[in-house]
Amino acid sequence: MTERIPPGRRRFLAFASGTALLGAVPSIAKSGSPPGRAPGEFKPDLEIELRAVQDQVAILPGAETRVWRYRAKVLQGDAGAVTTFPRSYLGPAIRVYRGTRVRIHFINELPQPSVVHWHGLIVPEAMDGHPRFSVQPGGRILYEFEVRNRAGTYWFHPHSHGHTGEQVYGGLAGLFIVLDEEERALGLPDGEHDVTLVIQDRSFTADNQLRYIDDTGMSGMMARMMGFHGEQVLVNGQMDFKLTVERKSYRLRLLNGSNSRICKLTWQNGAPLTVIGSDGGLLEAPVQKPYVMLAPAERVELWVDFSGWAPGEERLLQSLPVAAAGGGRLMGGMMNMMGGAPSKSDSVIPVLTVRSGSGAAEQQQLPQRLATFAPLQLDRAANRSRPRTFHVTMDRMRWGLNGRVFEMNDVAPDEVVRLGSTEVWEFVNDASMGMMGGMPHPMHIHTAQFRVIKRSVRPGAESAWRDVNEGLVDEGWKDTVLVMPGETVRLLMRFSGYAGLFLYHCHNLEHEDMGMMRNFLIKA
Ligand code: C2O
Ligand code: CU
Ligand code: CU
Repeated sequence: MTERIPPGRRRFLAFASGTALLGAVPSIAKSGSPPGRAPGEFKPDLEIELRAVQDQVAILPGAETRVWRYRAKVLQGDAGAVTTFPRSYLGPAIRVYRGTRVRIHFINELPQPSVVHWHGLIVPEAMDGHPRFSVQPGGRILYEFEVRNRAGTYWFHPHSHGHTGEQVYGGLAGLFIVLDEEERALGLPDGEHDVTLVIQDRSFTADNQLRYIDDTGMSGMMARMMGFHGEQVLVNGQMDFKLTVERKSYRLRLLNGSNSRICKLTWQNGAPLTVIGSDGGLLEAPVQKPYVMLAPAERVELWVDFSGWAPGEERLLQSLPVAAAGGGRLMGGMMNMMGGAPSKSDSVIPVLTVRSGSGAAEQQQLPQRLATFAPLQLDRAANRSRPRTFHVTMDRMRWGLNGRVFEMNDVAPDEVVRLGSTEVWEFVNDASMGMMGGMPHPMHIHTAQFRVIKRSVRPGAESAWRDVNEGLVDEGWKDTVLVMPGETVRLLMRFSGYAGLFLYHCHNLEHEDMGMMRNFLIKA
C-alpha cells in the first residue's frame, strides 16, 4: 500500500509553517484596536504580557508537534498569579481574586489575525475580544478590566472570525480562575488538591503533526458542518493523562476545550459524580449525577473523595458516546466513504486515569451549602411571556441563527437589549441536515451569566434528550448551554455589565467559524 497523504495535511502545513498564510491575511483590523485610555487612569493590580506564538512541544513519542500557544510573563503584581502547564502547549492559568484590576498586553506573533476573548468574564465591550478588534500579525492589544465575576473557572481563547477553530485547535487556550472570599470561607480543597483538567481532542498525522480539517472537497464541508472530532483525547495537552492523588478530597475543575466534541463523562466503574460548580462558579449545594455532560466551552467542578480508595487504586474517567452528536451513524458512514475522518462519536473514549497514592487516608466534609444565589425573579423579565427566541437554522450546509449568519457589525432589531434589563431568551434547536437529522449545539452568550429555567423537547426527539438529560448541570450559573436536537432551552439573564456590541454563538468552533454567531447590542 502506498502512503496516503493524511486528510487535512495541506491545511495544517499552511497553519504550521508560519508564513504561508501571511499573504492571505484579511484586513479586518485597520481601525480595530480598542480605544485606549488616558495613561494613569487605570491602576492595575496585575500586569501581564501575553504573547501568541508558534512553538513545538513533545506530545507523542518521536517528532515534536508544531503548535500555537500563549506565553505569559508577569510584569507587575503577584508573580504567583500566572502558572504554566508543564510540558504542554496549554495555558497559562491566571488566578486572581474578584476585584483585581488586570492589565494584559497581548502581542500577536501568529501568521494570522488574532484577538483574545475572556470567556465567561463580564468586561467592557472593547475588552471582550470581539473579532472586529483582531490585530494583524505583529499587532498588539491592551486589555484592562476589573474582575467582576464571582469565583469560578473561566478561560480565554482566540476569537478572530473564521480562525477561531483553527487557532484553538493549534493550542491557544488558557484558564482564568477567579477566587473570592465567599468561596474561600468554605475551606474547599485547594493548593495541589485543586486541579484543573482541560479536555481536548486532537488528531495527528504520521509525523506527529496536528491534523485539522482538509477544506478541499466534500468531506471538508461535511466536517465543517458536523464540527471537527479528533481521534485522541488529551488532558492538559498530554496523551494518556494520569492524575496521581493523595487519599484525600479534591476539587477537580474540568473544562471542555475541544472544538466540537461533546463529552459524557463517567467513571468506568459507574460510581456517581459529585458536582459542586459549573461555568459561573459554585452551585448552591452539591448534586450527584450518574454522568456529567460537558460540551465545548462548558466547565464543571467535581468534588472527589479519594479517602475510600485503596492505596494504588486506579480508575478511568471516560467519555461515553452521545447518540445525537456527530450526526449519528449515517453521517459517520458517509464520512468514511468519502475518505474523511470518522467522527469517533460512536465509541467510548478514555479521558484520564486517576491513581491514588499510598499515604494515609484523610476524610474531609463537603459543605452542604456552597453558595447563596438571589432567587430567580422571573417576574422581573420584561419579556417573560414573550421570550426572545433564536432558532437554529440550516441553509445550504451552513448553520445560522434565525436564518442569519455572522456579519461583523450587523445587529438585527430583535438583537437589541437594554442595559440593566432582565430577559428570557430561548434557543430552539429545530433545524436538521435533511436525512442526517439535527445536531446538538452548545450555545454561548458573551458578557452574561444566565440560569437555565426550562427545557422542553419536541415529541419524537425524546431519545436523544434522554441520552444526556441526567448529566446536564443546570443548577448553577452558566454562560454556555447544550441544546439537544429537538430541544428548546429557556434562559433567564440580566444584562448588568456594560453597554455595547457583544456576541452570542454556537461554541462548536467549526459552526462558529462558518457564521453560527451573531452580535447583540446592549443599549445604555
Ligand atoms: Cu468561548 Cu465567543 O466564546
Ligand atoms: Cu465567551
Ligand atoms: Cu452548532
